Amino acid sequence: MNEKILGAAIFGAGWVAGEHAKAYQKCERTRLVAVGSRKLASARACAAGVGADDALVTTDFDELLAHPEVDIVSICTPPDLHADLTIRAARAGKHLCIEKPLALDWDSCLAMQSAVRQSGVKTVVSFVLHWNPSLQNTKHLIERGAVGTPTYIEVDYWHGQQKWYPQYPWSVTKAQGGSSLLSAGCHALDALRWFAGNDNAVVEVSALEAPHRGDNTDWEYPPSTLVICKFADGMLGKVASILDCVMPYQFNIDIIGTRGTIRDNRVWSPELFPGQSDWATIPTVLPNSGDVTHHPFNGQIEALAGAILDDVPCLPDLDDAIKTHELLFAADRSAATGKPVKLPLE
Ligand SMILES: NC(=O)c1ccc[n+]([C@@H]2O[C@H](COP(=O)([O-])OP(=O)(O)OC[C@H]3O[C@@H](n4cnc5c(N)ncnc54)[C@H](OP(=O)(O)O)[C@@H]3O)[C@@H](O)[C@H]2O)c1
Repeated sequence: MNEKILGAAIFGAGWVAGEHAKAYQKCERTRLVAVGSRKLASARACAAGVGADDALVTTDFDELLAHPEVDIVSICTPPDLHADLTIRAARAGKHLCIEKPLALDWDSCLAMQSAVRQSGVKTVVSFVLHWNPSLQNTKHLIERGAVGTPTYIEVDYWHGQQKWYPQYPWSVTKAQGGSSLLSAGCHALDALRWFAGNDNAVVEVSALEAPHRGDNTDWEYPPSTLVICKFADGMLGKVASILDCVMPYQFNIDIIGTRGTIRDNRVWSPELFPGQSDWATIPTVLPNSGDVTHHPFNGQIEALAGAILDDVPCLPDLDDAIKTHELLFAADRSAATGKPVKLPLE
């Protein structure tokens, strides 16, 4: 086993950065060596919050990239900056942990992919629910044939965005939040693709969107988007991303297959459980909070460190996340034009 300790840097010292910082300090194969942000005070507070007192703090991304101990960079700024920062870090030979969404337009995603492929660095994209115990259990059950072949998968992201979130002021804007799917519903698109099988391509998508109908004038884009898609193997998928609902955070998962069904952490599988007369419920940690302190960033950072040091695959990497974003931009195009969109995108 490679014993090297990787030096990690974070750029964009806000809400989610604090969780990246904790995860780098907790992982035995990484340590936080630099934090950058627009305000020096934010970078300093992020480093101090995890006891990284020797870490470089800076407002200059080039200075952060030039730090000789930096092997990994976490991109934690608002999304409009992700593409430029990712491309610069990749060109500097730094491995990357990139917060979702990758970028706010398709061309920027492709430019990021090109830079990462040319540099050969490792990446993980922060669809962090891949490390949630309930989702991992669901994926495991599908792979073990508990539902047979999936014929219909539904994943919903229902999360009433609260004004107290640090990201709220920019995430409701078109220029930095982008759309309901870009802002957050992309987590559900990612999970849909993951459960369908990452090589099971979406071939056609239709989407509708609805504006906010209450008295909150902050929304610059329609906070509700409904996506229906068809996969190459004939499977159907559905995602509803709703950001102005009034309810606790909900990440619904329904998987209907030829031999059984999974509804969140409940399983109906006569082959797995002969004689079953009611849903079998798996005690586990559900994805039932929008608070970043509940998100399993430790697993994500462990996976990235393993990919770098042991040269093992780490999903979702940039190449995989690009496919989720291709579906996302196709869905947003469908919602805007009122027409179905075929994939792959041109
Ligand atoms: N994977 C997940 O589950 C998850 C959860 C939450 C957020 N996110 C994603 O993480 C990213 C950050 O979200 P957040 O909630 O942490 O937002 P946030 O609290 O607003 O943090 C972003 C930070 O970036 C810094 N920043 C802004 N403009 C900058 C610039 N031009 N140069 C350098 N730093 C700049 C700001 O720090 P200053 O104080 O220095 O201005 C701000 O605090 C977004 O892409 C979001 O979608 C992902």
